[in-house]
Amino acid sequence: MDTSMLHRDAWVEIQLDRIENNIKQIREYLPPSVKFMAAVKADAYGHGDLQVARIALKAGADALAVSILSEALYLRKNGIKAPILVLTPILPSDVNIAIEYDLSVTVFQLSWLKEMRLYKVGKKPLKIHLKMDTGLGRIGISKKEELEAMLPILNKEDIVVEGMYTHFATANREDSTYFNKQLKAFLDDIQWIKSKGLDISIFHCANSAATLKYKDSLLDMVRIGVAMFGIYPSEEIRRTAPVKLQTALSVHSKLLHVKKIKKGSFVGYDTAYQANSDEWIATVPIGYADGWFRCFQGFHVLVDGQKMPIIGKICMDQFMIRLPKKYPTGTPVVLIGKDGDNEITLEDLAKHINSVPQEIPSMITYRVPKVYYYNHEIVEVLTERSWSPSQYPLSKVNVNIK
Ligand SMILES: Cc1ncc(COP(=O)(O)O)c(C=O)c1O
Repeated sequence: MDTSMLHRDAWVEIQLDRIENNIKQIREYLPPSVKFMAAVKADAYGHGDLQVARIALKAGADALAVSILSEALYLRKNGIKAPILVLTPILPSDVNIAIEYDLSVTVFQLSWLKEMRLYKVGKKPLKIHLKMDTGLGRIGISKKEELEAMLPILNKEDIVVEGMYTHFATANREDSTYFNKQLKAFLDDIQWIKSKGLDISIFHCANSAATLKYKDSLLDMVRIGVAMFGIYPSEEIRRTAPVKLQTALSVHSKLLHVKKIKKGSFVGYDTAYQANSDEWIATVPIGYADGWFRCFQGFHVLVDGQKMPIIGKICMDQFMIRLPKKYPTGTPVVLIGKDGDNEITLEDLAKHINSVPQEIPSMITYRVPKVYYYNHEIVEVLTERSWSPSQYPLSKVNVNIK
């Protein structure tokens, strides 16, 4: 990879055609009446929200989900016209922004509804999806009385209740007991709200795991995150899923500095590594401020198709590895992805840090350029990203996918 246009030797590669194929396969598996909502929150789990939104819509997604208002506004300001649901409640004082940009918002508190109406101006109604807490214990209406108390406001003309949804805590687990309890609770909620005469058109609950494992949870729409990126929600689902997913993201660098150190020499902060013999050591220019965390210490990267151990403590911008022999500076390093016969997967790294695979790309920071491929051709390069949605991206080369 010619990195001169990236301004640094550390970058992420994203294969958009794989995301497209993953979505198409799930789409084909779903009954045609079931809508596909692509979860592009948190910069599409680090894959680039705008790029993933575009390819998802091209692949047949009907709607998008983001977490916070600024994520939705960024998509709208960049020409995304598809329905967008904001999953984390917005501030009541932002109600007019949501209406202006035609966003649907999540509601689960009577107090929020009352406060929102103090700010709302104009006749255009606010589109909402009611969030039920059927057992995740995060946000949502957990008692019928709370929902009952909201009914008088939900029936007002300034609100359209488009949807009602819940989120599962254990859809990726082998044991279905808790999942079934949550699904039953949600189906009861649906019956109850229908009996109250509220006209809601989209009931939804299934994330990637539920979609790939439990057909009875598909309802009117599924909300898919990890599966779009080729991440299986569990090993069991990898074995049994009705689709064959491909990972879309890899992370790359190049050796910045290679040197031979003497037996007994120390490497890195806190002298955390001491050489057992005379050793070849290399520095890789990516660190925890890029999302390559200290907890990856003790893991490895791939150089020349072989596993090279990370030694010492990972620094803010660099880390060190041990090599079996001298390699020239500029030699490619694979941090996530394939190199020869070896591969480092998000699952491998997640196991090392006792987390879930999606945490790893989600934490890659704006400093790391993103190179987008479509059928092996570079179609877009993002070299810098500001935290402020209005300025993002600061600099990019954009070749549209035909
Ligand atoms: C409310 C909600 N729906 C859908 C999703 C997508 O889940 P997944 O990435 O497991 O498909 C998430 C992600 O955590 C979520 O919070």
